[in-house]
Amino acid sequence: MQRPADPFVPHIYRVDRVSRELSDTVTLDLMPLSGSRPPFESGQFNMLYAFGIGEVAISMSGDRKANAFVHTVRDVGAVSGAITKLAPGTTIGVRGPFGTGWPVKQAEGTDVIVVAGGLGLAPLRPAIYDILASRERYQRVIILFGCRNPGSMLYPLELEEWHRRPDVDIEVTVDHAGADWHGNVGVVPKLIPRFAFDPHSAVAMLCGPEIMMRFTANALREAGVPANRIYLSMERNMKCAIGLCGHCQFGPTFVCKDGPVMRFDRIADLFVMREI
Ligand SMILES: Cc1cc2nc3c(=O)[nH]c(=O)nc-3n(C[C@H](O)[C@H](O)[C@H](O)COP(=O)(O)OP(=O)(O)OC[C@H]3O[C@@H](n4cnc5c(N)ncnc54)[C@H](O)[C@@H]3O)c2cc1C
Ligand code: FES
Repeated sequence: MQRPADPFVPHIYRVDRVSRELSDTVTLDLMPLSGSRPPFESGQFNMLYAFGIGEVAISMSGDRKANAFVHTVRDVGAVSGAITKLAPGTTIGVRGPFGTGWPVKQAEGTDVIVVAGGLGLAPLRPAIYDILASRERYQRVIILFGCRNPGSMLYPLELEEWHRRPDVDIEVTVDHAGADWHGNVGVVPKLIPRFAFDPHSAVAMLCGPEIMMRFTANALREAGVPANRIYLSMERNMKCAIGLCGHCQFGPTFVCKDGPVMRFDRIADLFVMREI
């Protein structure tokens, strides 16, 4: 009998392609050295291991139909810094996929509101690909994206492409901009009242800094969206990623197995506390 794969043992992947997104952010296409990569749900994450340095949780940011695992990584510390410096042809350890996914299937037949802040667009991108690939199954598709300034905009070409689609409502806003920016300035929750959607049946998916998700969830609640139709992706320090070590504990939940995508009504009480 074949033994089940050990979830602690990383599989070796080759860096197939590196695309620079921003001065501190790259997207890596990772191909397994042998066989094909396992399937994943949009919203799930892998543990990426920079050999000899350490392991970090990184969300899938690519199309579920692609052969590679695609990850968008920002250099903020030792491990993420090492990963962003990997060149094509080098290798990396991969454990996963882990965690819960976005409610893409559940949202079929209703309006969908996708709200991203900064790098939070990366974990939402596979869900956007899924939704647009089956566009006829959804009612209105609204994408709202906020970032610090026009120069820190993630995936600008794709934002432009989605903007050109007549069947997608998309707005981008920045916190600060120079005189050459003719778009929205301000925080992303302010965009919500501009759109007409059915608040009782709409499904909202949020990813970004916690403060942005807190204000966005409040704005959606004010617009009439029930808390059990708002989903957000949580980030906590991870070690095992399979619910054993407790590093990612968030109140009674473990973000690695009960999340990262969580329903707002299940965490709303904890979410208002800053230090949890
Ligand atoms: C489910 C999940 C999905 C994630 N998806 C992604 C992803 O798609 N892309 C990605 O780049 N990261 C993602 N992260 C964050 C990532 O796992 C690491 O926390 C981050 O890369 C920092 O790790 P490090 O060891 O390099 O830095 P550390 O040594 O842990 O931190 C160095 C410094 O950076 C600060 N820092 C830590 N994390 C962040 C952060 N997220 N943003 C800004 N500053 C930070 C710390 O406070 C510290 O000052 C995700 C985390 C989780 C839990
Ligand atoms: S990372 Fe170990 S329990 Fe979640």
